[in-house]
Amino acid sequence: MTTMKKQVVLYKKLSPLLMARLQAQAEVTLIESLDATGLARLREALPRAHGLLGASLKLDAGLLDLAPHLEAIASVSVGVDNYDIDYLSERRILLSNTPDVLTETTADTGFALILATARRVVELANVVRAGEWTRNVGPGQFGTDVHGKTLGIIGMGRIGEALAQRGHFGFGMPIIYHSHSPKPAVEQRFDAQYRSLPELLQQADFVCLTLPLTAETEGLIGAEQFALMGAQTIFINISRGKVVDEAALIKALRTGQIRAAGLDVFEREPLNPESPLLQLNNVVATPHIGSATHETREAMAKCAVDNLLAALAGERPANLVNVRAWKV
Ligand code: DGY
Repeated sequence: MTTMKKQVVLYKKLSPLLMARLQAQAEVTLIESLDATGLARLREALPRAHGLLGASLKLDAGLLDLAPHLEAIASVSVGVDNYDIDYLSERRILLSNTPDVLTETTADTGFALILATARRVVELANVVRAGEWTRNVGPGQFGTDVHGKTLGIIGMGRIGEALAQRGHFGFGMPIIYHSHSPKPAVEQRFDAQYRSLPELLQQADFVCLTLPLTAETEGLIGAEQFALMGAQTIFINISRGKVVDEAALIKALRTGQIRAAGLDVFEREPLNPESPLLQLNNVVATPHIGSATHETREAMAKCAVDNLLAALAGERPANLVNVRAWKV
């Protein structure tokens, strides 16, 4: 007896290998891009979809109400702030994500921003590129050391730990952190110390955000928090832009309240080319590249395909986010 294949709407391109794996099990509609035409095609495809796979799209009730047969969404991301988890759980739609496989790569991005801001890599590389390197650099171009400085991590999850590992073992940095609750294993491994948020902001040379965007973390860092940092503090964000009040950040950078910022995420993405952040030499801005390497993006896509195929086969996906939607 032949069974009908489930319908999957894919709004992210997969490698030929993963595409073949998905197509062997499901009828796939590929939405190549999320421009106006792509979104119109997505709306057309949703009414027959059993599964969705993709990333970087806010899938709110307005869209998902168009998909009455939807059983599962596999997000190619660790962050799940694009989804209304209560809505999905009520409809018993299984949401999965791709943790673990991107941890090390995202921590590498965090460290790239730490080094780039402290040593003014982008600003000074641009001087060379512009043909303006006419004499040896002097104090006006000097950076600040990274090794031995205090690394403050807000959100000690998997990525926070991977950052702590780099700082502690690679750069001899004392580690302080703030999270929901103290983490004894992390403290032991990296000789790390728990701090309240105000204490961390006052004591860290590098303040790094690695926590997810939730109702509690939205706007966590604003004018009051920047005021607690020192003029030498470097602020790094590899989590989500909305955790920070961007106007307050711009003010803190402009007025010298903090030294520099390394930002991979922004309140609105893509970042407006007119953003005042891009006028500031003490800002290194990257286009949300946390996990963006060939190896890691392929591993994330594989993880998402595995999650989706499991869910559509009636099995519990390995990375189920909304456990409440799982029928026992
Ligand atoms: C993630 O996996 O959440 C990355 O930030 C991409 O959105």
